[in-house]
Amino acid sequence: MSLEFLKEYEIIINENIKFNLDKIRNLDKSQSSIIDGMEYALLSGGKRIRPALCILGSLIGGLEKSKVLNFASGIEFIHTYSLVHDDLPGMDNDSLRRGKPTCHLKYSVGEAILIGDSLLTHGILLLLDSIDGVRLENQIKATRLMLEAIGLLGMIGGQSADLKQEKSCDCGLKELEYIHKHKTGKLLEGALLSGALLANSSENILNDLLGYGKSFGLAFQITDDILDLTSSVEELGKPIGSDLKNEKLTYLKIFGAKKAKEMAFLEVKECKNHISKYGVYGNYLSELADYLLERRK
Ligand code: IPE
Ligand code: IPE
Ligand code: MG
Ligand code: MG
Ligand code: MG
Repeated sequence: MSLEFLKEYEIIINENIKFNLDKIRNLDKSQSSIIDGMEYALLSGGKRIRPALCILGSLIGGLEKSKVLNFASGIEFIHTYSLVHDDLPGMDNDSLRRGKPTCHLKYSVGEAILIGDSLLTHGILLLLDSIDGVRLENQIKATRLMLEAIGLLGMIGGQSADLKQEKSCDCGLKELEYIHKHKTGKLLEGALLSGALLANSSENILNDLLGYGKSFGLAFQITDDILDLTSSVEELGKPIGSDLKNEKLTYLKIFGAKKAKEMAFLEVKECKNHISKYGVYGNYLSELADYLLERRK
């Protein structure tokens, strides 16, 4: 598996993120400490899977990738906010992220909250940055979908259920699926679909991508749960055993590693069923899904 396309997208997204950070820096020089914090959290080696999904959604719909770079970076800003807040002492209380001390340890808890808030709000502004050749109506649809994906009916709802289930014995597969599909699945799904919406894609394309996105999201978090115990700090860039420490409800906890891996395998197989007809970009989505089963970070 080469994942060459992911490396290429990572480079252009990183350039776009730097460009947008410089733009904000020039707007208000007095806010440099928050902007430094945003840069610290953003430019530290994330895999850029969500922007890649957005780019692939738009390419499948026939829109060139240069058009969606700000939108795709906006999604990465929003994802990074979710990580900064997820690591806070009141949430998972973790010390390492993307191989570096978490934002609240590098700065302070108060500053990390504001850095996260600022990543979120600036991310939303990037979603709304005007795009030449894309109908405003489509951009509003894509932005709305993203906001639903990260809100109470999406990521926040999942994070809230994840917190509630901590240390609780009252945990079944229903709650576990809800948590994973919402805290992680919705954003991944939203990234892919929003790219396709910007491209004015047909209902058929949107349905296929939704099918892929749902299974991809679940497979992604199942493998994240497995890596929490089976990877190494050096490779993962996060502490090992964070879920155990917090007594989290995970696939590993309920099913054990072997069965959880089989479940991730089945989800990956299912997501590939939806996109085989989409030529080279379908192949890229297929490679990305296979990568979930091999990744170490
Ligand atoms: C981590 O996401 C948060 C989860 C949803 C599990 P990633 O594994 O995509 O993290 P980065 O962006 O590569 O750091
Ligand atoms: C977090 O899930 C999902 C979000 C940040 C919304 P985890 O808590 O498992 O993510 P990691 O393992 O800290 O990256
Ligand atoms: Mg968490
Ligand atoms: Mg966490
Ligand atoms: Mg995790």
